[in-house]
Amino acid sequence: MELSQQRLDEVLQPRAVRFYPQADSTNDLALAWLRDGAASGSVVIADEQLRGRGRKGRTWHTPPGVALAVSVILHPPVTALHQVSMLGALVICELAESLNVADVAIKWPNDVQINGRKVSGVLPEIAWDGERLLGVVLGMGVNVRVDFSGTEVAQTAVSLETALGQPLDRAELLAFILRRVDVWSARWGSVALLDAWKSRLNTVGQVVTVMGEAGNIHGTAQAVDTSGALLVRDDHGMIHRVMAGDIALG
Ligand code: BTN
Repeated sequence: MELSQQRLDEVLQPRAVRFYPQADSTNDLALAWLRDGAASGSVVIADEQLRGRGRKGRTWHTPPGVALAVSVILHPPVTALHQVSMLGALVICELAESLNVADVAIKWPNDVQINGRKVSGVLPEIAWDGERLLGVVLGMGVNVRVDFSGTEVAQTAVSLETALGQPLDRAELLAFILRRVDVWSARWGSVALLDAWKSRLNTVGQVVTVMGEAGNIHGTAQAVDTSGALLVRDDHGMIHRVMAGDIALG
């Protein structure tokens, strides 16, 4: 079924929803709405993104009719900012689990994978007014029925419907995601949120190469700490605390 403002208002009520058949980036629209005083839980959804943004300045493709591009406005305390992207990856995992998709996990820090292929990415963005935290926008992109065959990510990306072998209603998926966002965002700062994210990570125990700003680190992922940083023991036995970056296995 097509997404529309009317259908989303019905399925997501009483939440404030702004639906766009086409947008540059839902995160940009949500950041502007946040600065205009949007309430917590307000959400921007686009059927297609023309300039969807990914982590590290990358592009995120959202072709029409085949994906979810959603940005939720949230007001966590400053002390829980590190949990925003955890929350995003966690709720997408929960969505796939609720559909009984096999082999769902989080690749540190916040890529959701099915059988080692990326089904979703998360992009949190923070809005400040000077030193005052205005709020955050949690952007989530989910491949629902994106056809990756013949593309350069054919081996590394996957769609939910492909993994499941059955059609899905995107409005129902959004309703689930946002219900879980509400549940977890009532628990900012909790060990429960940290543990729920941690228990889904497939990275700890793996041999990894971390591509960080200061260069590459090769070693074994030992653990994550309470702020979500990855602790990597390098080949000389030295422990590195990695706050952000991309990792490759091996
Ligand atoms: C990543 O690089 O893995 C993060 C991708 C995040 C994409 C989502 S789609 C909805 C929201 N709007 C954007 O422009 N980006 C995020």
